[in-house]
Amino acid sequence: MDIRVVKSAPDLLKEKPDENSLGFGQHMADHMFVMLYDESMGWHDAVIKPYENFSLAPAAMALHYGQAIFEGLKAYRGTDDKIYLFRPTDNLKRMNDSAARMCMPEIPVDVVYSAMKKLVALDKSWVPRAEGATLYIRPTMIASEAGLGVRPAKQYIFFIINCPVGAYYPEGFNPVKIFVTDKYVRAVAGGVGNVKTAGNYAASIMAAVEAQNQGYTQVLWLDAIERKYIEEVGTMNIFFLIDDELITPPLTGSILPGITRDSVLRLTKDWGLKVSERKITIDDVLAANEKGSLQEIFGTGTAAVISPVGELNYKGQVCTINKGNTGALARKLFTELQAIQNGHKKDPYGWVVEV
Ligand code: COI
Repeated sequence: MDIRVVKSAPDLLKEKPDENSLGFGQHMADHMFVMLYDESMGWHDAVIKPYENFSLAPAAMALHYGQAIFEGLKAYRGTDDKIYLFRPTDNLKRMNDSAARMCMPEIPVDVVYSAMKKLVALDKSWVPRAEGATLYIRPTMIASEAGLGVRPAKQYIFFIINCPVGAYYPEGFNPVKIFVTDKYVRAVAGGVGNVKTAGNYAASIMAAVEAQNQGYTQVLWLDAIERKYIEEVGTMNIFFLIDDELITPPLTGSILPGITRDSVLRLTKDWGLKVSERKITIDDVLAANEKGSLQEIFGTGTAAVISPVGELNYKGQVCTINKGNTGALARKLFTELQAIQNGHKKDPYGWVVEV
């Protein structure tokens, strides 16, 4: 499929925001990629064009029944001024897993990958230079067919938008405070918790708002049935270092298979750590903290990168982790991942590609 390119007129290019106060997802780059799907034609009309609003029927099915999926990955500017992507085709493959679960059409990974590289190259001046700042890439697919019957739509829009971002949490790389909820649940095996669909995030907002009202940055979810096994945090997977064993919950169908999660598992195994994907309860974690064997907790995600956890609140019991400090393993992982992503360090895994 050909990808048409319509460049923005030079006088319509946007002013760049201050790279030191980017926040997350506030500023959109100049161009976007759009591709349409129709049951009879398949994917067609692929175009890179200036970022602009869509025209969408009020009856568009994504707006009513939530056939909407997305991905998140980043472009990094190396000190050599080259632009790198981190595991981009893994994100696109995961998008196809989400599409299959949501009865949406698969995207042609090769076309989308090539469009993503062209788009990032065209908006290369949007990839920040400031330390810790990156260009966040958001591939998205929505059901655009107008209709109110509950069934798979026959028309979709796939698009990619890009935005320069700083740290996801206001804390930056400093430890975040996490509220463990046993009141709300995120997902259950057999549901859609293991795919990246918009509704998972909509369903998480109430718990997040309640946690934030109590001074917490994010929510830690427990399993929906027994409400004791740890699942994941709002926008991250979660890891525990207990007695020198690095533990993360297994992918049992309700947890998002994070790409940063997978990278951390790979790195730490190669470093010779004892690494386990196994079930762990909130009581195990609190008991380890009581005993002094809980060394670190950190979250992993594309947006959050590595995010140390300094405090947990479970049923009103407040536990300070690692004296509220960033742990050595979280710091080492953060430094290593950033060095690989920025092209500073040799990538033995084939994760990094130059745009
Ligand atoms: C990401 O880490 O890319 C995510 O998708 C989290 C996002 C919802 C902010």
